[in-house]
Amino acid sequence: MKVNHTNKLIKVHTIIPCYEEDLSALFLSQHTGFEKIEDFKAELGEPYSLLNSVTNKKVFLIGLGKKARSENISQSIRKAVFFNLRLDGAIQIFADHLDDKTLEQLAYGAALAFYNINKFKETEEAKKIEGVKIYTTNPKASAIIKKSGLIAESSMNAMDLVNLPSNIKTPFYIADYAVSSGKAHGFSTKVIRGKDLEKNKLHAVYAVGKASDNPPAFIVMEYKPKKVSKLTKKIGLVGKGISFDTGGISIKPSANMHYMKCDMAGGAAVIAMMEIAAQLQLAHHIIGIVPVAENTLGGNAYRPGDVLKTYSGKHIEVIDTDAEGRLVLADALAYMVKNYETDTIIDLATLTGSCVATLGYFAAGLFTTNDELAASMYESGINSGDKVWRLPMWDEYKAYMNSDIADIKNLSSVPVAGATTAAKFLEVFTNKHKCWVHLDIAGVSFTDSEIYKSRTATGYGIRLLTDFISKQ
Ligand code: BES
Ligand code: ZN
Ligand code: ZN
Repeated sequence: MKVNHTNKLIKVHTIIPCYEEDLSALFLSQHTGFEKIEDFKAELGEPYSLLNSVTNKKVFLIGLGKKARSENISQSIRKAVFFNLRLDGAIQIFADHLDDKTLEQLAYGAALAFYNINKFKETEEAKKIEGVKIYTTNPKASAIIKKSGLIAESSMNAMDLVNLPSNIKTPFYIADYAVSSGKAHGFSTKVIRGKDLEKNKLHAVYAVGKASDNPPAFIVMEYKPKKVSKLTKKIGLVGKGISFDTGGISIKPSANMHYMKCDMAGGAAVIAMMEIAAQLQLAHHIIGIVPVAENTLGGNAYRPGDVLKTYSGKHIEVIDTDAEGRLVLADALAYMVKNYETDTIIDLATLTGSCVATLGYFAAGLFTTNDELAASMYESGINSGDKVWRLPMWDEYKAYMNSDIADIKNLSSVPVAGATTAAKFLEVFTNKHKCWVHLDIAGVSFTDSEIYKSRTATGYGIRLLTDFISKQ
């Protein structure tokens, strides 16, 4: 692990994350040798570097904003560590003044700073710093930092999958990853591949993926705690796993189409959550389902106007082949409901551009009719940094999805409230499950950052799920 805990102060470069409330004369003079720093307000992400006037060592202050707020602190820490990786010497983060929650975020962000994006460069960019030490005397620190480091490791595995180009991460590649990850971490994985999907009635997954030379698959993972009783909570996770989304015959415009390699980010988050559950030996029974397919064109591609049979027995009229995520999820949700009696079902999907237009890049759309579940997810969002915001699920919206010839169609008749109409579509396949929540993560999974030149995976959802499941 790159991030460790120490209770010894060592003479190295020091990063000091501080809230606006921390900026007292005493705090500043202790850490910088100055009582006041005119230009530093400790706003979220604000950097300031100086030489400690007493020790002559470099000090990097990084603002965390106001204490009571819920912006993504780990992102600021990640950036602060990342931009210091080329320093000579060692880095220590001073964290003795921070509470447990901030420490958790700090350790996660610091670990992510070491994420290696340049997998396909002949020569790696030079980094001199090997790891960071977090200084604190908090007795819980080592456990908190260890847990955050573990969550960060699985997040980075998921980020690797999302950042990989689609010529490499074919549906079978993702399935094979899940199998070997299960063996390594301790959960079981079953994969239904190619034409076998039809034999297993997973007709919608097969239809979406059949035009590609890289055949579709259906991944079912299961983590069972050592002791299972009637009280053991059973949680179902479903993640959209489109390895590339061209739009199919309803083809997307080519500008920015390369970003559509991120269309399996929900699936990657579900696989990462299985890894974390197994490693933390959670007391919950967790089933993870990821339908994987490449949505592309070909003589064999499914078409607008086609009617697809689904796992549930219901038929879908395809109006637009670019609304493919809801088709594979229809089978996955129905499979979950029919084969596992779960207390809760959570699905994560990069489902609609409409959700991005509504909420932008800082919160996922949350859809459920269960108010308690919505409140609990909201709280986990604030706690973990992976924020969610609830959007409507009223039945009025359902009428837009009614088809004349089939049980439902995959595109709304009216081009409004696209994220909600997608959620109303999914609801049809949950068999009125009392505790189902859909998270539209299209805006938050793959974003611009201050670290890289173009959009990259964020690992969104993994901390959210970990926090939420731990509360059940
Ligand atoms: N994968 C896209 C959604 C998406 C958009 C993901 C932006 C990440 C960033 C999805 O399959 C899609 O194409 N949705 C269509 C739905 C429409 C045809 C109803 C969209 O949002 O335009
Ligand atoms: Zn699409
Ligand atoms: Zn898609």
